[in-house]
Amino acid sequence: MNKNLRKAVIAGNWKMNKTRPETLALINEIKPLAADAGCEVVVCVPFTNLETAVGAVKGTNIKVGAQNVHFEKSGAFTGEISADMLVEAGVDYVIIGHSERRRYFGETDETVNKRVKAALQAGLIPIMCVGELLWEREADITQEVVARQIKLDMAGFSSAEVKKTVIAYEPVWAIGTGKTATSEQAGEACGLIRSVIAKLHGKDTANAVTIQYGGSMNAQNAAELVAMPDVDGGLIGGASLKSADFGEIIKAASVK
Ligand code: PGA
Repeated sequence: MNKNLRKAVIAGNWKMNKTRPETLALINEIKPLAADAGCEVVVCVPFTNLETAVGAVKGTNIKVGAQNVHFEKSGAFTGEISADMLVEAGVDYVIIGHSERRRYFGETDETVNKRVKAALQAGLIPIMCVGELLWEREADITQEVVARQIKLDMAGFSSAEVKKTVIAYEPVWAIGTGKTATSEQAGEACGLIRSVIAKLHGKDTANAVTIQYGGSMNAQNAAELVAMPDVDGGLIGGASLKSADFGEIIKAASVK
């Protein structure tokens, strides 16, 4: 599988962190570190910081992402934000189906599927998250769980839609825990995802899809993880809040 066929994406998932002035400061620190990046660099900030972030990245190669999106165009959905609203705000990417959304906010494969579709229709690039729980890995059903999520979350997608979707493989036991999947585990799961897509949509589509690893990726382990043949960058939580660490990860993903 030729890594050069696809784009590596390094995306920071800031989660519920940073005020507006802090957003501006952190992006200003990231700018020089991302200037020569050989990968796509994205910062996914809280909704209230989107406007600040979009303004701050103007004229740079850094893209801005949101952390969720609703599937309806408008209506009585208190607390939700539509894909068109994100586009209007100047957003390019949106994280969908993060395990924290699935765990704390009742997100299901069905709602993830609808949200990813709505994002694609509006012209956003979804970063669709999948990954097994600790007990599922221990019960040796990781492959089955991840394959099922891919099938359900992308149900009804055309090959063109699959190609436009970034997939983040994030083993839930590795998120925010400091426990990183080994590069072999990450590579194996991302390879499995690619083979599931190949079966459903053919090899060309599978080869074109960006599949990231996420879960305690940091300045020390990034190089080994992103060097795996099927790992195309990362979705980074904690380490994306420290510019120096995020810069090191960008560097690691820029090596051809
Ligand atoms: P982490 O988070 O890097 O802090 O483990 C990753 C994520 O939740 O996307």
